[in-house]
Amino acid sequence: MRIFLIGFMGCGKTTLGKKLAQKMGFSFIDLDHELERATGTTVSEYFSEKGEEAFRSLEKEILNTLPYPTNCIVSTGGGTPCFFDNMEFMNRSGITIYIEMPPAALAKRLEYGKHKRPLIANMDEGEMITFIENKLAERNPFYKRSFLRVNGVGITPAKVKNELFQVF
Ligand code: S3P
Repeated sequence: MRIFLIGFMGCGKTTLGKKLAQKMGFSFIDLDHELERATGTTVSEYFSEKGEEAFRSLEKEILNTLPYPTNCIVSTGGGTPCFFDNMEFMNRSGITIYIEMPPAALAKRLEYGKHKRPLIANMDEGEMITFIENKLAERNPFYKRSFLRVNGVGITPAKVKNELFQVF
């Protein structure tokens, strides 16, 4: 079983993914981390040196060509589902789970981790909430094509596992 966790930056894909993988005895893969490994640089550096277009192409290539273990949890980047046919690829080759979270909660969580995220690194609190609201509205049509949706506020690996068991 291959599970893709999708959702906006800061919704907790990586943290939840690691814990869920541990709980289910699955491997864990972080797409941004794989990209960093392949390029030998950070996402921020890659973005500023090559630009977003190059980043999106490489992100797609890595998503399409990774040697996925049979049972794995894949944490994707916030923009991954919204470019090319990435959402279709993920829905075709695995189970997609959208971790939903309201803009205010995302803004609060991102305050600490924004420096690693080129799209928001230089924004103040006011700019960030507006950016999140607009970007989320733009991305939600993609995110909502997921197979499952879970509320990211108070989410636990046990809750996600239960939701999965109700379906399978
Ligand atoms: C991005 C999200 C980031 C990373 C890149 C672009 C986005 O991943 O892929 O900075 O477009 O939302 P996280 O969602 O893990 O922060």
